[in-house]
Amino acid sequence: MAVKLSSKDQYKYLTRDLMWEPKDFDMKTVYPLIEKEGIHIKDPKKWEDPFRMTYNQYVKIQSEKDSIYHSVVNAFEANHGHAKVVDSRWYEGVKAFAVAVQPAEYQAHRLMAYIGRNIPIEAIRFATFAQAIDELRHAQIEIKHYAHMSKYYDGLHSYAKTNENHWFNTVPKSFFEDALSAGPFEALMAISFSFEYCFTNILFLPFASSAAAVGDEHFAATGKTVQSDESRHMALGMSALKMLLEEDDRNVPIVQKWLDKWYWRAYRMFSVVSVIVDYYPRIRPISWKKAFEIYIEDQVFNGLFKDLRKYGIRLPLHAEDSIKEKEHYSHATMRILDHYKHANVFRTFKLQPDDYEWLASEYPNTFDQYYASYYKRQGDHALAVTSPGIPSVCKVCQIPLEFVNPDKPTQQWTQYSEYNGDIHMTCSPGCKHLFESEPQKYMQMWWPAEAYVSGEFGENVPMDLFKYLAFSPEEAGEHYSSRDRLRWLQYRQVINFDKRFK
Ligand SMILES: [Fe+2]
Ligand SMILES: [Fe+2]
Ligand SMILES: [Zn+2]
Repeated sequence: MAVKLSSKDQYKYLTRDLMWEPKDFDMKTVYPLIEKEGIHIKDPKKWEDPFRMTYNQYVKIQSEKDSIYHSVVNAFEANHGHAKVVDSRWYEGVKAFAVAVQPAEYQAHRLMAYIGRNIPIEAIRFATFAQAIDELRHAQIEIKHYAHMSKYYDGLHSYAKTNENHWFNTVPKSFFEDALSAGPFEALMAISFSFEYCFTNILFLPFASSAAAVGDEHFAATGKTVQSDESRHMALGMSALKMLLEEDDRNVPIVQKWLDKWYWRAYRMFSVVSVIVDYYPRIRPISWKKAFEIYIEDQVFNGLFKDLRKYGIRLPLHAEDSIKEKEHYSHATMRILDHYKHANVFRTFKLQPDDYEWLASEYPNTFDQYYASYYKRQGDHALAVTSPGIPSVCKVCQIPLEFVNPDKPTQQWTQYSEYNGDIHMTCSPGCKHLFESEPQKYMQMWWPAEAYVSGEFGENVPMDLFKYLAFSPEEAGEHYSSRDRLRWLQYRQVINFDKRFK
């Protein structure tokens, strides 16, 4: 007689007890990475997937999300939504998001598959499997979004090639290559702790609410549907982190080292989020500084890390530096982008009077004193000159070496380390520390000046460089004087948009 199983049992029979001890080969041959990192696991059976979902439930929830998402997007596309945002410069910020985030989503899917394959604990397998599919869903949703944008805006027509070669893309790609070349437990912490638990809220929530505020319902829906998967990803991260700490005291210093490393690595990668929150939207619901205070200082440092104290875990090594830098982060990052705007796929823009006002009121301690007067002297550009050369980039995070020392804001924060007879430059004490912890690894990082000398950009730079990057000089530069701006204004005229709402 058929027995009706409780959902708890159903979950158990569908996802647990499916593994066996290898008989033909020993455990270490089948799982060669498991001891590589010095992690000790006494009782794998104690590990739990916090969400306890089966495939059926997963598919049902995801398909509901997808159908809501597509109906919003279809309506947006059919009603000329892109022309109705409050200011076309918003789309330069969305391009920045495209360049930075989509490669990260795709690589997160590879990483989750790698973790599930290499950690022989069946309880977390379904969670890593589901997350791998989620990340692929995010990557594909975002690519579709960019394909739609590309009908009206520059820069995304050869997306795959840009993705491959664009200098700015090396920032997220180096993060994920670093994680993919680490062992599976470190990779799990890199993604689930730093990327998911610490920073995805700050990535998706302020940006999705900015999207709603400026009238881009398409992106708001994209942000929302992507973020809706994140609670599962964060829960996986938290349960894995706690299990590693509870299983064996010898794991604690190893985990602490990973938290130190990946906190700073993710924090630096997310620098671009500070400008897409503070600069690109014309209407901003929240500043980077406030978002950092809520999502990082309150939730992570004063919340999570307080809980972790009982295991002997302290705050990430360079947490304090990131707190100090919140007053400068978006301004310094905007200046970096402006410095290279002639060769970047998303444009920067001349600041408008309301930008000065908003930035001064959100950053009363720093904006007027260190940035506004400077911008005004440059004709409202964050930087008047564009750099004619190839940028020197940080040997760890790969961002041009132009961050500001928060203790002495008129000076740069660039650091120097000697290794193997050479001097290596990093953008900050946080990246310097990472370089010096694993110099053999970071020595291999791609360096644009070397790529130029070796002919990677072609013989006729800058024209060959644009071919290599897969966009043209007209697609770079300043937004308000660009052809994207002109087309946007013309499109609004054709649909009679301004008149209808006057
Ligand atoms: Fe994602
Ligand atoms: Fe995620
Ligand atoms: Zn760096």
